[in-house]
Amino acid sequence: MQEQAIAWRQAGDAIGFVPTMGALHAGHDSLVARARRENQRVIVSIFVNPAQFGPNEDFEAYPRPFEVDYARLDALGADAIFHPPVEQIYPPAFKTHVDPGPLAEVLEGKSRPGHFAGVLTVVLKLFNLTQPKRAYFGQKDFQQVILVRQLVRDLGLPIRIVACPTVREPDGLALSSRNAYLDPAQRAAAPAISRALDAAALSFGKGQAHPAEHESTARSALEKIPGSTIEYVAVVDPTTLRTPARAIAGSVLAVAVKLGSTRLIDNVVLGAERL
Ligand code: PAF
Repeated sequence: MQEQAIAWRQAGDAIGFVPTMGALHAGHDSLVARARRENQRVIVSIFVNPAQFGPNEDFEAYPRPFEVDYARLDALGADAIFHPPVEQIYPPAFKTHVDPGPLAEVLEGKSRPGHFAGVLTVVLKLFNLTQPKRAYFGQKDFQQVILVRQLVRDLGLPIRIVACPTVREPDGLALSSRNAYLDPAQRAAAPAISRALDAAALSFGKGQAHPAEHESTARSALEKIPGSTIEYVAVVDPTTLRTPARAIAGSVLAVAVKLGSTRLIDNVVLGAERL
């Protein structure tokens, strides 16, 4: 993969890279389509990264429909699909890990200790193997975008991180490979998550700037979902991930909710389209 990527770069082609764990949906399609528009070459990786799953998470169960994903990426015009075996990314002698620092200890990181160390370690390795000029990430995983941007800034990587808008079902549910785990009742209830975020965005638009108000309104809506367990509901500043005294345009309301055993995350950028 690296030899091919270097050859493309030497020929003057810009490479757009879309890292994925497979089980592709229209959200991934939008990343690949944007990469296709903005670069001469597009590389998509499919790698279910064991290092970012906790011991009680769904690494084994994570869907791996490789043939279907391959056909989808072929139709979208990807130039290369990089689908390495686990031992190639983490050979037995593998020792080095990226420490993402304090921004990885809140929100997702608090619920999933070690998750972002696993994400940044594999993302850095994938960047080195695919040599991108631009890399594309979905805004649904907003903390991941913030941490990957930090990685690029702190380590001086010559890569532009492009955050792309969350793609949603017609009823508002953010697309996620994990939506497939929802039973019909949970699936019917799940759009309440995006409705809670929309309501907060609307009330911010009407002048509500108190983070606690947004958090408690969203929390009450999420509590009404049968069988839900709220992990966090927080208005945060996208650079510090701390709750500001007042929400301003660009503050992010982020939520994580479990419906039964399925964990869903979503967010809205208040008063702005994107991060
Ligand atoms: O967002 C994901 O699918 C994963 O976290 C990523 C970026 C592919 C790293 O494994």
